[in-house]
Amino acid sequence: ANIILLGPPGAGKGTQARRLVEERGMVQLSTGDMLREAKDSGSEMGNRVAEVMAKGQLVTDEIVIGLIEEKLSGGGEGFIFDGFPRTLAQADALGELLAKMGAKLDAVIEMQVDDEALVSRITGRSTCGGCGEVYHDQTKPWPADGKCAKCGSTDVKRRADDNEDSLRTRLMEYYKKTSPLIGYYYHAGDLLTVDGLAEIEDVAGEIARILDGVS
Ligand code: AP5
Ligand code: ZN
Repeated sequence: ANIILLGPPGAGKGTQARRLVEERGMVQLSTGDMLREAKDSGSEMGNRVAEVMAKGQLVTDEIVIGLIEEKLSGGGEGFIFDGFPRTLAQADALGELLAKMGAKLDAVIEMQVDDEALVSRITGRSTCGGCGEVYHDQTKPWPADGKCAKCGSTDVKRRADDNEDSLRTRLMEYYKKTSPLIGYYYHAGDLLTVDGLAEIEDVAGEIARILDGVS
């Protein structure tokens, strides 16, 4: 199945996408991860977007649509679009790209959370530099020996945009430019909603139920 995980920063899109990769062999396409990789590699595009991302603003449609287009082939058990699309123009572009491959979206899963929860989720987040596993200071702390439970790395990474100032901008961008996609996909008949405030396991269960229903 091809699905979109839609929700504000900190909703848990990346956490759930990684589980679906492990448990179902789906392919995660995270434009945020692709942009951070471009930045780490020191490419010209990566340097250009680094400052925009650190401030919490959206990168141009042209860049992210290009990134998705490059990765959109094969797809095994289906694609999980994580953090893409984020504008109506990106949603239209995705529809066209999938149609060209003879594929379609099976579900758009909106992860509902409230702003208060997002602040503590974002400011408590860290990511493993070795394997990308996502941790949280309170809800999913690093093992006591400081080694990642998945890969054993001790490289704890924090994102440049995970501070309260950038988060405020990220939320504004979400409400202004991304939340209209909820109406867009509702009218297309693809929208389903999960309670993103539930425990990670319970959210995973709800998503599994949706996937079993569409595939
Ligand atoms: P991106 O990397 O996509 O970041 P984001 O949308 O802000 O989302 P996050 O990764 O912050 O949150 P998440 O929902 O994945 O939450 P997570 O699972 O980590 O984008 C970054 C930037 O790149 C953008 O600001 C923009 O500049 C640019 N960009 C990217 N895509 C773009 C596009 N398409 N167009 C234009 N620009 C683009 O969880 C968060 C924390 O909560 C973790 O610590 C986790 O452990 C914890 N947690 C998760 N679920 C639960 C739960 N159920 N209960 C308790 N804790 C939980
Ligand atoms: Zn790791």
